[in-house]
Amino acid sequence: MPIRSISRMGHPVLRQETRPLTPDEVRSPEIQRLMDDMVETMRDADGVGLAAPQVYETIQLLVAEVSAPKSPESKEPFLPLLILVNPTLVKASREKETDWEGCLSIPDIWGMVPRHRSVVVKGLDRTGRAITVETRGYAARILQHEMDHLHGILFLDRMDDMKTLAFKREYHRHWAKDDEE
Ligand code: NI
Repeated sequence: MPIRSISRMGHPVLRQETRPLTPDEVRSPEIQRLMDDMVETMRDADGVGLAAPQVYETIQLLVAEVSAPKSPESKEPFLPLLILVNPTLVKASREKETDWEGCLSIPDIWGMVPRHRSVVVKGLDRTGRAITVETRGYAARILQHEMDHLHGILFLDRMDDMKTLAFKREYHRHWAKDDEE
């Protein structure tokens, strides 16, 4: 399961629409291998999500995983490994929440992004079976971020105020909460 190289902002692949996969394609050895590679690539890069265009594939596939809670006091659920094909948003809370985001394709830059507090997303799992995913808080944020990648949208496009943009070192120095790394 090789680790793939990650596309970086400025590469056109990150601005393209992606195409959905058929259930037969989902079960093909090529796509199964890609899924495994994406999981490994995400974990290796210490990411919490990765979308296919970030490994130069213009298809509707994303992986996400949060192996630890956002903070020790956090009541937000962990996000167990999620492999999602052809995700579509079926419901989004009117209420939004603004919080920090980064992106493996925009290394070392953080910014504050408003996202729906909770979302319901429909799609296919890695066996091609229909699934519905209900998430809130941090997990919902990750899902919205990764789904945006499938439509050529980066988190910078979603920011209300560019004044919060920060390099990683400055973010940790001046903005990160104490309970974060
Ligand atoms: Ni990203």
